[in-house]
Amino acid sequence: MTKVAGIDEVAIVGAGWMGSGISTICALGGYPVNLVDVSQEILDRCVGKIRANLDLLVEADEVTAADADAALGRIQPTTSMADGLGRSQLAIEAVPEKLEIKQEVFVKMEAAARPGTILGTNSSGLPTTDIAALCNRPEQIVGIHVFEPPFVLRAVEVIRGQRTSDDTFEKAVAFVESVGSVPIRVLKDRRSFVINFLQQAMRKAALDLVEAGVTTEEDIIKAARHSFGVKYVAMGPYSARGGVDRANQYEPEALEEMGRRALEMLPVIRAARTLD
Ligand SMILES: NC(=O)c1ccc[n+]([C@@H]2O[C@H](COP(=O)([O-])OP(=O)(O)OC[C@H]3O[C@@H](n4cnc5c(N)ncnc54)[C@H](O)[C@@H]3O)[C@@H](O)[C@H]2O)c1
Repeated sequence: MTKVAGIDEVAIVGAGWMGSGISTICALGGYPVNLVDVSQEILDRCVGKIRANLDLLVEADEVTAADADAALGRIQPTTSMADGLGRSQLAIEAVPEKLEIKQEVFVKMEAAARPGTILGTNSSGLPTTDIAALCNRPEQIVGIHVFEPPFVLRAVEVIRGQRTSDDTFEKAVAFVESVGSVPIRVLKDRRSFVINFLQQAMRKAALDLVEAGVTTEEDIIKAARHSFGVKYVAMGPYSARGGVDRANQYEPEALEEMGRRALEMLPVIRAARTLD
């Protein structure tokens, strides 16, 4: 993996659950990680969790033991925002999901960061524009929303706040790619962004069906696992050619393509059969 030019070190602010996952992918991507939290005890716990994440990846043959050791060696825990941010050209905040806490932390991050440092927020749904509201350089603030566990689920939403600059947005996209993840561009700032919005729609439909007595929760899980769950991986929602299908009606050649892609998904389909 190639690091983004101009980003030598990164900071992760908030060494909780998500902080450990984000640190894991950044360190595996070759970036020294300045891990910032309010106490040494929290930092120690987080480093233990990063080690556990890396062990899982070694066990799954995703990374070598040597690469895991090297990644752990890149973690630099600190209780000093000034130290952590001062050394970094990109920072990602992962503190609790409360607007006031995030706004306050962003003011501190901005004060500690050198000019030009990109400040990302891992908020699951708060608009990036609101989180940046008390800052002087909102053009350098962008949403970088990872999914749990980030070293397995590789989509990362990159959210353009109302005042995020083109340069900040594109650098954040490049950074996500540089750690082997898949950037999903969210071009308009809104609550829930894209992925959680889609998931919420599906969850609501599932609840409606169960409440109306049409089917059971168990059968909805099986339905997802053995039909559209796999199809989504291969093609996205209702799509035969990779785009969103609006007509929901397939031409013969599209059906052929769908069949071919379904065959490519056989390992996933077999794995799904073991879960019932
Ligand atoms: N848990 C998930 O599945 C998930 C998935 C995606 C995104 N997120 C988002 O990630 C963010 C963090 O969630 P989490 O589950 O990791 O929370 P968490 O409670 O596990 O961790 C938050 C950490 O932030 C630290 N913190 C608080 N104030 C701080 C400050 N001023 N300076 C430095 N550190 C500070 C806390 O000490 C704690 O260690 C939230 O915005 C959440 O919505 C969570």
